[in-house]
Amino acid sequence: MRRTRVIDALNSQAPMQQILVKGWVRTRRDAKGVSFLELNDGSCLKNLQVVIDESAPAHGNLTGVSTGGAVEVEGALVESPGKGQRWEVQATHVRLVGGADPETYPLQKQRHSDEFLRSIAHLRPRTNKYGALFRIRSESAFAVHTFFRNRGFYYLHTPIITGSDCEGAGAMFRVTTLSALVKESVQSANVHADDFFGKEAYLTVSGQLEAELFACALGNVYTFGPTFRAEDSNTPRHAAEFWMIEPEMAFADLEDNMDLAEALVKSLVVHVMEHCAGDLELFGRFIDQDLMRNLEVIARAAYVRLPYTEAIEILQRSGKAFEFPITYGADLQTEHERYLTEESFKKPVIVYNYPKEIKPFYMRVNDDDRTVAAMDLLVPRVGELVGGSQREERLERLERRMQESGMNREDYWWYLDIRRFGTVPHAGFGLGFERFLMTVTGVANIRDVIPFPRTPKHLEF
Ligand code: 4AD
Ligand code: MG
Repeated sequence: MRRTRVIDALNSQAPMQQILVKGWVRTRRDAKGVSFLELNDGSCLKNLQVVIDESAPAHGNLTGVSTGGAVEVEGALVESPGKGQRWEVQATHVRLVGGADPETYPLQKQRHSDEFLRSIAHLRPRTNKYGALFRIRSESAFAVHTFFRNRGFYYLHTPIITGSDCEGAGAMFRVTTLSALVKESVQSANVHADDFFGKEAYLTVSGQLEAELFACALGNVYTFGPTFRAEDSNTPRHAAEFWMIEPEMAFADLEDNMDLAEALVKSLVVHVMEHCAGDLELFGRFIDQDLMRNLEVIARAAYVRLPYTEAIEILQRSGKAFEFPITYGADLQTEHERYLTEESFKKPVIVYNYPKEIKPFYMRVNDDDRTVAAMDLLVPRVGELVGGSQREERLERLERRMQESGMNREDYWWYLDIRRFGTVPHAGFGLGFERFLMTVTGVANIRDVIPFPRTPKHLEF
C-alpha cells in the first residue's frame, strides 16, 4: 500500500477504508481501553490523531512507542468524534520503525526556548514552530523563482569561489588548500603561486559582478545562492553564511530598480500569505501579534521613497537619543532604519542617493558628484532588507572610483571590458533571503530562520 501524507489524509474529502501513514509520534496518551497517538510527518503543522483500540491487533504493538519515535500505522480514516479534527485513523496495525528513548529524547512536551533549540538544530525541525518555518522557507524560495520567471528573468548560477571582492569591505573568507603548517611557504612572497588556483581565492560576498556581465548579454538575470561574510558582528541580523537574491537588469535605472524591489517584496509576501496560511498563523499567534497587520501593509502600501538627505533631516529632527548620533555622511544604523520605517512612516521605506564615500565603487555617481544612485529598502523590525544601485556604466568614471577605492584595475579587466564593449545603463540589488524570512514570520533572530546558522565561533552540525 502507498503511504498517504498526513496533509492529504487531513484534507481528505471522504473516509478511507485502508490507509497507511508514517511519521513521528508527537505525543502518546493511554486511556482506559484505548490509546491515542498524535502523528506528524512534516507535511503540515497539524498532527493526525491515531486511535488504537484495546481490541485492535495494533494495541499489542505499542511497546516502545513514545514521543519522538517513528511509526507506521495502517487503519481506516474515519470521521473523528473528538474536537479539533475532522478525521482520525482507527488503527489496525502499528509498527515501531525507530524508537526514541523517553529518558534522553530532548524534545519533550513543554515549550523550549529558541536558545535551547539552536543547540539541537538537528531536531528542531520536528517542533511546530521550526517545521512551519522551514516549510515557509521552502515555499518562499519557490516564490522567488516564480516571480522572476514570470517577468522573463533568467536564473544565473554565479561562482561561490571567487578572486574578487565585490563589496570592497574586506570581510571575506579565504579558500586555500595550503596547509597552515607550511609556515615558511606562508611567509614567502609568492605563497599564492603554490595554492590551488595559483592566486588568492575567497568565498563570494555577492554574485553581483558576474550577474552584471550576464545582464549585459541576456538582458535580465537573477542569482539566488549562498553568500559569505566574515564580518565579526554578532547581531541578530547578520550571519556568516546567508542566501541572497540578486537581480540585475540591462537598460534600467535607479527608479526601475526601486520598482522591481518593491514588486518583489510584495509578491513574496503575498505568495507566503496565500500558500502558507496555516503555518503563518502560528507566527501571528505566538511570535508576533502584529504580524498579519504588518504583512498587509508590506503587501499593499505604496513604499515611501526618500532621498538620503531627507532621511538624515528626519532623523535629526526626531529628538530621539540614538546610540549612534546621526550626521550627513554617516551610514544608517539599524536603529535609524527602524525609526524611519516603524515610527516615521509605519511602512516600508526606500532610501536612495547616498553619499558616495559610504558606498561601494560600482555604484553610479550622480550629477551632483557627491551622491551615488544607491537604494536601500527598509522594513519594520528588520531594517535593511534590500541593498542595490544603478551601476557605473561609464568607463572613465568607474576607473576613477576604483582608483580612489585603492583597487587594482588589472584584477577587474573583465568587469571593465563590459564598459568598453556595448556598455548600457544597468541596475540591480540584493535581497537577503533570511532577512525576508524574518520579515514574513516575525522571528527576531537570523539564527532561527536558517537550518544550520553560521556565526562567529559557531560551526556545529
Ligand atoms: O547591501 P549588501 O551588502 O549588497 C550587496 O551585496 C550588493 N552586491 C547587492 C547587489 O546590488 N546585487 O547586501 C544585500 C542584502 C542586504 O540588504 C541584507 O538583506 C543581506 O543582503 N545581507 C545579509 N544578510 C544576512 N547576514 C549578513 N551578514 C548580510 N549582509 C547582507
Ligand atoms: Mg547594504
